[in-house]
Formats: sequence, structure tokens, C-alpha cells
Amino acid sequence: MNAAEPTSPQLFPLTARRAGALRGRLRVPGDKSISHRALILGSLTVGETVVSGLLEGEDVLHTAAAMRALGARLERGGDGVWRIHGVGVGGFASPTGPLYFGNSGTGCRLALGAVAGCPVTVAFDGDASLRKRPMRRVVDPLIRMGARVIEVAEGGRLPLLLEGAADPMPIVYESPVPSAQLKSAVLLAGLAAPGETTVIEAEASRDHTERLLKHFGAHVATKPHGAHGRRITLQGQPELEPAAVAVPADPSSAAFPLVAALIVPGSELVLEAVMTNPLRTGLLTTLREMGADIEVLEKRDDGGEEVADLRVRARALKGVDVPAERAPAMIDEYPVLAVAACFAEGVTRMRGLQELRVKESDRLQATADMLRANGALVEIEGDDMIVQGQGRPAGGAEVATHMDHRIAMSALMMGLASEAPVRIDDSAFIATSFPGFVELMRGLGADLAG
Ligand code: S3P
Repeated sequence: MNAAEPTSPQLFPLTARRAGALRGRLRVPGDKSISHRALILGSLTVGETVVSGLLEGEDVLHTAAAMRALGARLERGGDGVWRIHGVGVGGFASPTGPLYFGNSGTGCRLALGAVAGCPVTVAFDGDASLRKRPMRRVVDPLIRMGARVIEVAEGGRLPLLLEGAADPMPIVYESPVPSAQLKSAVLLAGLAAPGETTVIEAEASRDHTERLLKHFGAHVATKPHGAHGRRITLQGQPELEPAAVAVPADPSSAAFPLVAALIVPGSELVLEAVMTNPLRTGLLTTLREMGADIEVLEKRDDGGEEVADLRVRARALKGVDVPAERAPAMIDEYPVLAVAACFAEGVTRMRGLQELRVKESDRLQATADMLRANGALVEIEGDDMIVQGQGRPAGGAEVATHMDHRIAMSALMMGLASEAPVRIDDSAFIATSFPGFVELMRGLGADLAG
């Protein structure tokens, strides 16, 4: 298998400074989770699927390239508009070289599932960050379904060579971690299996795969399981029918300007058409508990997902206790919530953050390091992070971003309101999820300079 591409041939440092209030209306790019899923499910559909509002960040473009390499036809029609001619369930062909997913755990893990139900042999690889992330959690259930791992790096990591099952078997899978990627991988493999594939999750994770599967005509039944969980059953071997997908704005990207508007005095922003799927709105709930002024202007349904315009105004925040069971609904938002917590009065305790250790970086440690370097009082106690809010942290440090886009953007938001500027060592990875971030923030009044 090939070596991973060089990941940071050049560093792009960036500095955020205090300036005036942030003001304006904006629409952040399309949701990353839905964008990956739309490309993969469109590729498993017979006929033409048109996707609009697709996130054209590096992560999603790697998934598009992977789908092409597996035999689907994908054409970019214009800004965020893509036409996909799929190969049908079970129809992938063996690619000529390894599939390279860059920084993207979602693209890689979902593709592992989609490939596992097809009689093809596929090599998976990614950048230095993705090569450190656990793949065994996804591969284990896929092996139960009949896939075979031919080669894998130490610790069950990338690079990995997978042989999909010629006759995949449906399973009942009790997920050991609250992970939408894991759930989705099993469901995507289950598409090619006869009968029912069931995933049981103790805590409900984002349900975009289930929603999109139904949108494309598959039979998916979801029942409550325990206090916070779900039992999801997919009827295998459906004939997926093409269906247009309009990708709503990504709430995980919206989180950055949203928090910036809260902590930069005098700010007022309107964020348009942000997806408000209840399994993604943990940050909004938490910020409101902290006293944030976030108004829902217009709630509507867009392509099977709820969306709303959000008006946010700067506000004094107070510390809160964030329960562990909320983590799946805001798992990507903790770094920027921790920034908000530094500007609050009082203690914010964020519980049950163990999954943060296996993101694009060890995000629990990277977040604590980022805040501490800039004068905030932070502790990690087991899987909890505790921030002692001080109103306005000192800033003044350079933050190591560890190839992690969300650490990079969170640190910059901190610098917009801390006493002294905050610098990041590398802004390059922001392009994995939020192309145009720097220009968009500058347009609202942010002082970001190289
Ligand atoms: C995602 C699920 C989450 C999240 C990631 C996107 C998805 O990961 O952190 O950014 O699209 O399914 P886990 O499933 O590993 O929690």
C-alpha cells in the first residue's frame, strides 16, 4: 500500500486579534455529515441523484474521489451542485489504487461500511492524523458481516486492506460506543445483506444515515431503547431510488461564528438555514443554559431535516454543568464551548468526554492546552473538563492545532475577544470542513491576519 500523502508540506499560521463587534448575516457551508452520506448513498442508487448545497471541503471531496474510484459517476454541476450516477446496492467495483481519505474519519469509516457488503478488495488510507485513529471499532462488526481484513497497521489502524463480503450477513449489533460513524458503517454494509440488520445504541447519535436511507426508499424502523438510546432496523437489499438532496448549513460550523458573536461585545449575527436536528443541537441547549441570547427566527423543514435562522447577540454568560448524555448531540462542539466557558462567570463542567480523545487530535488534551496557554483555568478530571470562567482570558499564546480544524477555529474565536491576540500554528486544516472560513469571518468584522 502507498505511504500517506505528506500532510503538512507548509504551515499557514494565523493570528486573531480583538477588533470591533461582529455584525451581519451569513450562511455557513453545507453539513459535513449529510454531504458524505449523500455522496455515498447516491453512489449506491441506480439512476441520477442531484445534491445541492454540498460541502465542498477537503474531507467531502476525498469521499467523492473514493466513490468515483469505486465505479460511481459524479459530476460537479456548479457551486455545491453535484450529479451522481450510482452503481446500485452491492455494485461497487475494485478500485485500481488505495482510497485516500485525508483527515476524514467519517468518509473513511462510512466507506468501509459501504464497501464491506460488496465483493471487492479495497485499500484505505489517510493522513497522519487519520492513521492514528481507531478503525477496529468499525471493522469488528463488518467482519461479523463477512468482510475480511487482509492487511492492517498496528493497533487496527490505517493503512488497511479490506475484502468485502460476497454474501454479506445481517447482524444485530449492540454498539459499544455512541458513534454515528460506527452505526452508519454497519447500516451501509447491511444494505447488501438479506434480511434485517439491527444496530442498538445506548445513547442516540446523529441520525442522518437513517433519514437519508428512508429518503432514498429503504425501510428503516427506529424504536427507543432504554433511557437515551435507539434500536434501528434496516430491511436489507432495497432498490434505492434516486432522490434530490438539499444539504442544510452545518451546525458544527455555525458554532464558531455563533460563539464569537456571544463573546465579542456588541456583536449581532443572523445565521441562515442552520440545521436544527435535535441530535445536533446540544450546543444551542448548553449556550442557552449559560444565558446566551439566541433567537430562532424561522423554523422550517428542508429535505427531511429541520432548519432555522438563528439571531445571536453578545451576552454575559455563566458557567453550567453539561451532562454526559448530551455529548453525542454536541460532540464536535466542545472545543468552542470550552472557549465560551472561559469568558463566562463561574465554573463550567463538561462531563463524559472520552470520545474526544479519538477525534482528529486528542481533542480533550488539545482543548485544555489551548485554553491554558492563553491564561484560562482548566482541569481534566477523568473524562470531564472543568473550566473556571474569568470573564476575559489573557490570550497571547500560539496554539498547536495538531492537524485539527476544530482546534484551529476555536482558538481563533478565542483570540477575537481575549486581551492579547491568539495565534495558531497552522490554519490549513480549516479547509477540511469550512472552506472560506477566514474570508467569511473577516466579512463580519473579525481581525484575522497571517
Ligand atoms: C460524525 C460523527 C461523529 C463526529 C464526526 C461526524 C458523522 O463522530 O465527531 O465529526 O458524520 O457520523 P463519531 O461517530 O465517531 O462520534
